[in-house]
Amino acid sequence: MKTLLLKDNEQDIIKAAEILKAGGLVGMPTETVYGLAANALNPNAVANIFKAKGRPMDNPLIVHISSFEDIKKFGLASEIPAKAKLLAENFWPGPLTVILKKGSIIPDEVSAGLDTVAIRYPSHKIANKLIKAADLPLAAPSANLSGSPSPTTAQHVVNDLNGKIDAVIDGGTSDVGLESTVITLAQNPPKLLRPGGVTLEMLENVIGKVLVDNAVLNKLEDNVTPASPGMKYKHYAPKANVIILKAGDNAFIDFINLNKSQEVAAICYDEDMEKLNVKTFSLGKKGDSAKHAHNLFEILREIDVNKNIKTVYSRCPEIKGVGMAVYNRLIRAAGFEVKDLEKL
Ligand code: TXA
Ligand code: MG
Repeated sequence: MKTLLLKDNEQDIIKAAEILKAGGLVGMPTETVYGLAANALNPNAVANIFKAKGRPMDNPLIVHISSFEDIKKFGLASEIPAKAKLLAENFWPGPLTVILKKGSIIPDEVSAGLDTVAIRYPSHKIANKLIKAADLPLAAPSANLSGSPSPTTAQHVVNDLNGKIDAVIDGGTSDVGLESTVITLAQNPPKLLRPGGVTLEMLENVIGKVLVDNAVLNKLEDNVTPASPGMKYKHYAPKANVIILKAGDNAFIDFINLNKSQEVAAICYDEDMEKLNVKTFSLGKKGDSAKHAHNLFEILREIDVNKNIKTVYSRCPEIKGVGMAVYNRLIRAAGFEVKDLEKL
């Protein structure tokens, strides 16, 4: 199959919508990461998403809509709790996914057999135009091969999926750079399943107490079934061995410089760069979590391009605000390997 490269113009959006209506797959820019979209109500089209990505069938997909009313219009959920409306009023369109009890129209391929469905109204203009033009709810996971970092440019999508999908629309670089926050309202109190651009603090300001799933910050025990199936898969891991260093500014620099070699690199802050004697990948200025989120996946992909790098020591993000999302992705890239220099 030849993958069409489409642009943000009316003709190309219509073309992409036609592909979706016919059961095809389209790489779609969103403000978080690029998604691989298909008609959420067409089980065959959805099954093809799993094939193209090599994604395990037990990992459910997010359904993308272009207004809160779409939930009712398409019959996506069997119940729309008051808290869903509150979250929508405050954070939609935007990087927040809400899990509700599913409507009977949702194919098992989308929900992976669960009795719930994940729903998101993205803010990216192209995603909105495409959903409206297709007049369909669009199931879309991140548009990467399963196991590699989520794509934040159309080029990343092409690198992973060229020849396996019908088209990709180029919408430039994704703003947020990390996948959406996922919260389930299918239980009370609601629970945060994946941290993202809409932070725990922001959610609690609007709907009160929100629990944090244990898998957000910790490694799952082998015998535990995760609330969100995606949590159990190793994610975003570059081929090099990533190790998070819990350390103060100087201890971080001294440790790495003592262990320097051609095979060692560092994921650090701007302020560290000139003090480190190894190859550096900066997340941005210290404290600027939104910037760190924006840069992380690009950095993980770049590390893979440098084949001689075997070990990467990383700064440990602060676990608050958007920093919780950065930490959540980094510990997975590190296979949960954290070295606490403060305790040595
Ligand atoms: O920002 C995003 O959310 C991007 C863009 C494209 O919208 N999408 C994305 O999709 O990250 P994906 O498939 O890579 O991640 C979806 C996550 C997975 O961890 C999955 O297990 C979880 O959401 N999920 C989906 N439906 C669920 C459900 N019904 N219950 C629990 N977790 C669910
Ligand atoms: Mg993904």
